[in-house]
Amino acid sequence: MKKNVLLASCLCFILLQSNAQQKINPESIQEKMQWFADAKLGIFIHAGIYSVDGIDESWSFHNKKISHADYMKQLKGFTLKNYDPAVWADLIKETGARYAVITTKHHDGVAMYDTKMNKLSIERATPAKRDMIAPFFDELRKRDIKCGAYYSLIDWTHPDYPGFLKDSVKYKISDDYERWNRFRHFFQGQIKEISTQLNPDLWWFDGDWEHSAEEWESQKIRSIILANNPNAIINGRLQGYGDYDTPEQNFPVVRPKYNWWELCMTTNDNWGFHHDDNWKTPYEVITIFVDAVSNGGNLLLDFGPREDGTIPEEQIHVFKELGAWNKKNGEAIFNTVGGIPQGHFYGPTTLSKDSTTLYLFLHGHQDGTIMLKGLDNKIEEITVLGDGAKLNHKVVGKISWSHVPGLVYIDVPENELDKYVTVLKLKLDKPVKLYRGRGGFN
Ligand code: GLC
Repeated sequence: MKKNVLLASCLCFILLQSNAQQKINPESIQEKMQWFADAKLGIFIHAGIYSVDGIDESWSFHNKKISHADYMKQLKGFTLKNYDPAVWADLIKETGARYAVITTKHHDGVAMYDTKMNKLSIERATPAKRDMIAPFFDELRKRDIKCGAYYSLIDWTHPDYPGFLKDSVKYKISDDYERWNRFRHFFQGQIKEISTQLNPDLWWFDGDWEHSAEEWESQKIRSIILANNPNAIINGRLQGYGDYDTPEQNFPVVRPKYNWWELCMTTNDNWGFHHDDNWKTPYEVITIFVDAVSNGGNLLLDFGPREDGTIPEEQIHVFKELGAWNKKNGEAIFNTVGGIPQGHFYGPTTLSKDSTTLYLFLHGHQDGTIMLKGLDNKIEEITVLGDGAKLNHKVVGKISWSHVPGLVYIDVPENELDKYVTVLKLKLDKPVKLYRGRGGFN
């Protein structure tokens, strides 16, 4: 009885903690987030006029690397003349990703969809003369890929937005509340448009750091979105009113405490198309991906298309390699949950939802013998994902009078290694049970 009360109050505490953190009703949040938790991989797309010159998205004028006027000249060079959203959607499908998130408007204020709130859209202000988002979402939906809309709350071009260059503002909100209200009417109008025209499954806000939840009216924004689509998921950049956390570029070392989180990361060093050859290798991308998933998170991997709508070859190569790896090893990734705590195995792990299957990931060329500590289960079978080869194992140091489990040694022959990351599948006799004591008699 006492134990139950303790458990219930612990649970309450955890729930309260996460709600306080996110300032939202529990709704049926668990249910709503399930597809996201199972999805593991999303593809991020930074499409914008910055691809014309291949310069930093929006930040280049904000940081005064280029004047605002010169930045805006790129509008004239944005053509989308070879843009085929079906090709993009096919490539995304091939990676194994279950969702994609595309910029509907970045901090520069240029709408990539058909906005009626002002004239600054690729449809009205560039030779492309078209909305690139609606046809893309159509192609994604045909392939059963969830559609995400990135939307920057910051709009450094809008005359009524206070921020502009890094060291100057147009006005202070406290000095001109009416002007700020005009901006709020504008950006919330765009959110309503995106919601009704495109009905995203996921909203990826950005730039919330420039104003408070009260100033943005975050709660109202959340309500606008959920009124139209109660199942929409909202990322954590809405000053406390989002559903999940978004570490950026830098990966967590210890497992994050959030229920849901997603690492967003570039494939080279830039979000948009850039003259940047510092591509991550497929090995690097796959190991980062596995690391995120083993810690209970997702990876949102970015690409920056050229102004004509084509995708750099190096980018395609990384995506295809990731896709091929997922095809072979996806059983250990999609629809799984984060693995066992660090210390039992020197590498990442994941578990099946019922935790009767444990997956071990071996980076690089780890053939020979690997070791598992504190696994209080009988292993029924060990196979290598891909060809299903069965591997031998040995339990060492199990003392008959002690409940402390022995060490498990598994032989991994060189010819079974994947060229990037090898996955071993351990079928256990029952849900995973771990020993985390001090050894000896304990
Ligand atoms: C940052 C940057 C932005 C980029 C985003 C992607 O917040 O401001 O340029 O789009 O990260 O996560």
